[in-house]
Amino acid sequence: MFCKIGIFLLVAKLSEGLVLPRQAASNAPEQIRISLGKDPNSMVIMWTTMQALNNPLTVPQVVYGVNPFYLKSSSNASINKFVYSGGQQYIYTATLQNLTPATRYYYQAGSTEGWSLTWNFTTFPSGNNFPYTVAIFGDLGNKDGASYPFLKQGAANNQFDIIFHIGDFAYNLFTNDGKVGDEWMREMQEIMATKPYMVIAGNHEWESDNMNFTHYRNRFSVPINNAYNDSQFYSFNVGPVHYVGVSSEYYFYENVVPLVNAQYQWLVNDLKTADANRQNQPWIIAGQHRPYYSSQKDDSCCNEVVENYLDYFMKDGNSTVPGLEKPYIDNSVDMVFWGHVHSYERTYPVANMTAYKDGNPYHNPKAPVYICTGGAGNQEGHTGFTHPPSPWSAQRIDRFGYTLLHVYNNTHLYMEQIDANNNGTVMDSVWITKDPGFQRNFW
Ligand SMILES: [Fe+2]
Repeated sequence: MFCKIGIFLLVAKLSEGLVLPRQAASNAPEQIRISLGKDPNSMVIMWTTMQALNNPLTVPQVVYGVNPFYLKSSSNASINKFVYSGGQQYIYTATLQNLTPATRYYYQAGSTEGWSLTWNFTTFPSGNNFPYTVAIFGDLGNKDGASYPFLKQGAANNQFDIIFHIGDFAYNLFTNDGKVGDEWMREMQEIMATKPYMVIAGNHEWESDNMNFTHYRNRFSVPINNAYNDSQFYSFNVGPVHYVGVSSEYYFYENVVPLVNAQYQWLVNDLKTADANRQNQPWIIAGQHRPYYSSQKDDSCCNEVVENYLDYFMKDGNSTVPGLEKPYIDNSVDMVFWGHVHSYERTYPVANMTAYKDGNPYHNPKAPVYICTGGAGNQEGHTGFTHPPSPWSAQRIDRFGYTLLHVYNNTHLYMEQIDANNNGTVMDSVWITKDPGFQRNFW
């Protein structure tokens, strides 16, 4: 009887992802998160302890393997003592290399001074022609995070394979001496520890803290591929998609000219290379925090009715810095996702304020399609609409939620907007399709 109960408990723990030969201790890891490494066969594991390890000789590491009862491989972690206004913590980073494609790995993070529970993730298949789903959203707060339960359930049920959080975390990572960031990342652990969590910074990562995005830079890892070792802009490939993370914040931050120009140089080069590589990654999708096509209420992004300097600055640039739209048009970017305004909006294919609506505009689109998915949920509430839809606005809904982008193959994407205010139903959807080898001839 005892034995049966023991087996039952073990199985129950396994079903929760909790197996474990090792016990948690006072210095146990927390806030475990994973992200894609530079090498497609790698995964980066990060975690935090609030105290330093007791013994300076203790080696933090990740132990991992395909058998949850036998984590036979290990990778040592670096330690970053992260000191910030009001506090400090220790952040560990380990990179698991040479992983087998399409394989579930189990892992524990920590050291002999305390181990995490056992978590798992699944690597993507090899090559570039496989289907998967990416969850995309911005503006997810520590309070009133309407999408949180759906994302948590979605991660547990493998409804998506990777996440792209396009700015504004926790509200804010630095608030209350970083404690809000810690609370949010503890809550997000069940999602972040199992699905690669790719990020780009928003205004809440720098606004008012005067700390130069320091929590964003220290708490997250992205596969940086720029010469500036800057995690604010980077790109990566998953299957048939080339993703580009772009900082809209550099257009609003101090010292605008050198930062924007550095990013722009990198961006043009990256997009040109990607556009010449369509045979491998036919899709190019960008993510940036703030929109420049938005018919929503927030005047600080790009409402065409309320024309102000900031609206067109990020879109078109000025005499000192270039804007973002031209390289997106020139290099035939397929979709751009952004947030910042806390509602949903889908555009028609649009370039230079002109919408292309004839026929099925989403088949062989003549210009980029923009999706505002900044309504994951936070204490600032809905942005709302105060103006009629702009001519390029195809759909807008003032509800919280997030995007599921189903990447089917080289010719078909299917986008669903999940309604977190209505039990996770689909509030909008669209197929983006193109003929094999389609080349946009915008000009
Ligand atoms: Fe924002």
